[in-house]
Amino acid sequence: MKVVSSAVGVQEISRRYRGNGLKIGLVPTMGWFHEGHLALMKEARNHADKVIVSLFVNPIQFGPSEDFDSYPHDLERDCKLAEEVGVDVLYAPNKELMYPDGFSTTVHIEGLASGLCGGDRPGHFDGVTTVVSKLFNQTLPHVAVFGEKDFQQLAVIRQLVRDLDFPIEIIGHPIVREKSGLAMSSRNSYLKKDEMTAAHSLSKGIASGRKLALEKKEVSVREIKKTVAGVILTHPECDIDYIEVVDQVTLQNCKYVTSDSMLVLAVTINKRIRLIDNSKIRNGR
Ligand code: PAF
Repeated sequence: MKVVSSAVGVQEISRRYRGNGLKIGLVPTMGWFHEGHLALMKEARNHADKVIVSLFVNPIQFGPSEDFDSYPHDLERDCKLAEEVGVDVLYAPNKELMYPDGFSTTVHIEGLASGLCGGDRPGHFDGVTTVVSKLFNQTLPHVAVFGEKDFQQLAVIRQLVRDLDFPIEIIGHPIVREKSGLAMSSRNSYLKKDEMTAAHSLSKGIASGRKLALEKKEVSVREIKKTVAGVILTHPECDIDYIEVVDQVTLQNCKYVTSDSMLVLAVTINKRIRLIDNSKIRNGR
């Protein structure tokens, strides 16, 4: 596996791959790999001849009181894991290379990026769409794979690609979960032992909402949200940032539960650890 830290370097490799008629798959990440990331890398391999993984903890998608400074980071560990699943290139630029003095462009998406996580984390999606646009231009992929845990992010990226004509196919990969049901996330590493039960309440809450929808054909959005919140709020460590039932494409709040409705939620544990999760309410996982 090649480890590259310059944009020119990775672009040169990509041009060479393209020149040889090879298809490139990109997996953008912020590192601290877990099984969820490795599943994205394997998925990229299913769609491409060469897999590039970018690893960059992107400062401009974190708010001032968020966890940028403490975000887990170990390049050596991540290189080993990426190599084990057959990644061809690990692209790990630094902050100065991505945002040199004088950098002044922001890619901003209206609508989709403003509610849910965008409402709680102002500027977050501007940071994501700006860095992902740069990563696309630097690595020149044919396909890019993103996890469905960040459901809103995936919708925003699809919009970005449509609006700015990036010739890239976007592939969503289903959430990878621990045996307990907890959605895998680099931020799970912040959880202390006694916070685990509270963290499990996200997937347990979702399961209870899905069960209700299965048992009751005419269930209302309000009932679903109340049931999910009931499970989560039995844990005093949990503050609910949002629980919503939204359309899977537009992310607009649903009036009724349909087969396209998604249950999406964000919960902060002990005021420190913000976790997100989602699921289709009916059908799906
Ligand atoms: O999902 C992430 O890890 C990040 O938001 C991404 C897409 C790598 C952009 O920094």
